[in-house]
Amino acid sequence: MRTDAAYELLRQFTSPIVAVTSAWQGRTNGMILDSAVRASISPSVPRLSVYVHKWHFSHDLIWNSGKFCVHLLHRGQLELVHQLGFRSGADGDKLAGIPHRIGHIGLPVLEDRVAAFELAVINTMDTGYATLFLGHIEAVHPGKEAEILTPPWFRAHMPKAWEPEWLANYQRAQDAIEAHTQVEDRRWTGPRDS
Ligand SMILES: Cc1cc2nc3c(=O)[nH]c(=O)nc-3n(C[C@H](O)[C@H](O)[C@H](O)COP(=O)(O)O)c2cc1C
Repeated sequence: MRTDAAYELLRQFTSPIVAVTSAWQGRTNGMILDSAVRASISPSVPRLSVYVHKWHFSHDLIWNSGKFCVHLLHRGQLELVHQLGFRSGADGDKLAGIPHRIGHIGLPVLEDRVAAFELAVINTMDTGYATLFLGHIEAVHPGKEAEILTPPWFRAHMPKAWEPEWLANYQRAQDAIEAHTQVEDRRWTGPRDS
């Protein structure tokens, strides 16, 4: 993983660690993000945006279905971060064995959560290496009252044995980003057949 003084300052902009689930054509998946941002200050216009790298399995499920579910997590969920955020759903069903049910708009809603938000995509922005999805919240599922999981807390408390894999994934993502900085003229135009 590469860093410098400016990047350490940029790291202050990360939001809580969340789990994002998705579903398309009978396939479900989950990933981890620290890029979910509230995108409206009106309670009658509840919106969030997430930034998802294009090479993730979740990216295509979200792009094709036009929906995603964001879960606020608590500090007792480090193992979930390892299960969903260290390997790809393209290699196997990551949600098997993780208790969940299907929510109001057909998305997996994890049982263990501080809260879950099911969102419908309303717009996207291409960044070259990623898509920024803007979603409107269609359903809210409250959960456990507990301290939210944040990136600094995760980095300070993740088991030492995970660090080499985490750093290698980070480095691979940095390499892919640096190879795909050219913004594409590509915009989401609606869900594909689900
Ligand atoms: C703490 C943490 C934060 C992450 N933040 C992001 C993020 O903001 N955007 C992103 O695209 N991937 C992020 N990732 C990486 C994905 O969660 C990870 O690569 C995942 O395995 C992708 O799964 P998929 O291929 O099944 O979709 C993060 C991973 C971790 C552990």
